[in-house]
Amino acid sequence: MSATLATPMLPWAPFEPPHPRSLPAVIALLRAMLEGEGNLLGLLPAEAYRMPIGPLGWSRRSTVIVNRPDLVRHVLSDPEGIFPKSDLMVAALDPLIGDSIFVSSGATWRRQRAMIDPALTMMRVNRAFPAMEAGAEAAEASLLRAARDGAPFSLDLMMSHLTADIICRTVFSTSLESRVAHEVFDAFTEFERSVAQVEIRRLIMDRAWTRIPQKRHVLEACALIRRHLGALLDTHLAAGADFDDICEAVIEARDGEGRAFTRQELIDQLGVLFLAGHETSASALTWVFFILATQPALVARLRAEVAEVCGEGPVTFEHTKRLPFIRNIFRETLRLYPPITFLPRVANEATSLDGYPIRRGALVMVAPWVLHRHEHYWKRPHIFDPDRFDPAREGEMTPGAYIPFGIGPRVCAGAAFAQVEAVLLIARLFRRFDFHAVAPERVRPAARLTTRPVEQVMVTVRTAA
Ligand code: HEM
Repeated sequence: MSATLATPMLPWAPFEPPHPRSLPAVIALLRAMLEGEGNLLGLLPAEAYRMPIGPLGWSRRSTVIVNRPDLVRHVLSDPEGIFPKSDLMVAALDPLIGDSIFVSSGATWRRQRAMIDPALTMMRVNRAFPAMEAGAEAAEASLLRAARDGAPFSLDLMMSHLTADIICRTVFSTSLESRVAHEVFDAFTEFERSVAQVEIRRLIMDRAWTRIPQKRHVLEACALIRRHLGALLDTHLAAGADFDDICEAVIEARDGEGRAFTRQELIDQLGVLFLAGHETSASALTWVFFILATQPALVARLRAEVAEVCGEGPVTFEHTKRLPFIRNIFRETLRLYPPITFLPRVANEATSLDGYPIRRGALVMVAPWVLHRHEHYWKRPHIFDPDRFDPAREGEMTPGAYIPFGIGPRVCAGAAFAQVEAVLLIARLFRRFDFHAVAPERVRPAARLTTRPVEQVMVTVRTAA
C-alpha cells in the first residue's frame, strides 16, 4: 500500500522561506563587500538565476557560473581531467584533510574512491543503523530536558552536536560524550567558524593559484583534530578487527594491488568522513527543523505518515524507505538550502563550454544554490513545496537540475547514509516534540563552509500532545 495515498492531506499554504533578494550585479557586489567575507550568496546577481552560463559579477579572476544541466554534467564529470577541485577550496581544507578523497584528483582520487565506497554502501548503513538510533535516543533525552526547562536554545548547535555524535558512533563506535570526541567537535566548530568554502575577498581580489596563508588558530584547531583522530584510529589498530564500524571498514580497505591506506592517509580520510559526514547533515537538518518549526500543518501531515507506517513502534531501517512525505521534505529542503552551496572547480587549461570561452585559471562554479532556484528549470523556484517531488509531478522536473549530492563520478559517497539518517531523525524527533522558532523573521542564509543561517536559529521545544 502506498503511504502517500493513505496519508490525509491537511490544509497547507505554500510559503517562501528566507533567501537574499537578487539584485543587479554592481549592487550585489557592493552588498557582498558590505556584508563581509562570509556570504557569497549576496554576490549572486539576479541574472545568475536566468542565464545558462555566464560571469559571476566582477572579480579580478575570471569566475564563471555554469547552470545548463548538460554543461554542469560535463564540468563535474570532467572527462578530459581539466576541471579539478578549485585551488581556493583545496587550500582552505588542506590543513584538515590533506590530499584526501574530497579534494584529490586523477589516479590518487580513483584509488581512494574505490577503497572508500565499500565502507558507505546501503548494506553498511544498515549495519550502522543501531548506532544512528542510539544518537537519536540521546537527542530525545536532551530535548526532554530542554522541554522541561522551556528556555530557547540554538538549533544550529543542537544539529551540529547531534550529527557529530552520530558520526562518532557510526565511524568510531564512540559517542560525543567521550573526551576525545568532544575535543574534536570543539576544534571543528572553531574551524567551521573561520573557514568559508569560497572566501569572497579571495574570490574578488586574488589571481588564480595565489598562495593563501592560513590563520594560526585554524592551523592549531586542525592539528588538534588530526591528533585526536589519530588517537581514535590507534584504538582501532590496536584492537585488531574487533570493531564493526566504518573506521574498521576503511582500515581493511585494499587497492587493486592489495595495499592498505597508510596511517597518515587514514587520518586524512577519517577527517573527510568527520567533516563531510556531519557538517553537511547538520546544515540540512537545521533548515528542515527551522522550516517545520514554522509550519505546523506540515508537521501534522508528517506525523500522520509516521503513525500510519510505523504505528506506535520504533522507526526501523526498513521504515526509512517507506516515508515518502518525510523524504520529500528532506529533498525540498536540500533544493532550497543545498548544504554544499557551490561546487567550485578550476580550469587547468584554457577551453570552452559550448562556445563559451573559459580562461586558464578561471573558477568554474557549479552552484546547486543557483541551479536549484533557476527560473527556467523550476516552477515557483523560491517556494517550499515538498510535493513537487511526488512521482505524479515528475513531468515538472528538469533532468540534471537537482544535484544536492553532486553528479557524475564525484557524487557524494555518503548520500545513502545521509538520507537514512535524516529520515530517521525527522520521523523520531517530530513524532515526540513540537519545535517553535523564536524569531523566524530574522533568519537569513549564508554560504560558509556549508549553507548556514547568518545568526543562530533559536527555538523552544515542547513534548507533543
Ligand atoms: C545532506 C548531507 C550531505 C550532502 C548534501 C552532501 C553533499 C555532497 C556533495 C555535493 C559532494 C560532491 C562535492 C563536489 O563534487 O565538489 C559530496 C562529496 C562527498 N561526500 Fe557528501 N554530502 C552529505 C553527507 C555526507 C555523508 C554523511 C558522508 C559520509 C559519511 C559524505 C561523504 C562524502 C565524501 C567522502 C565525498 C567525496 C566524494 C568524492 O569526491 O569522490 N557526505 N557530498
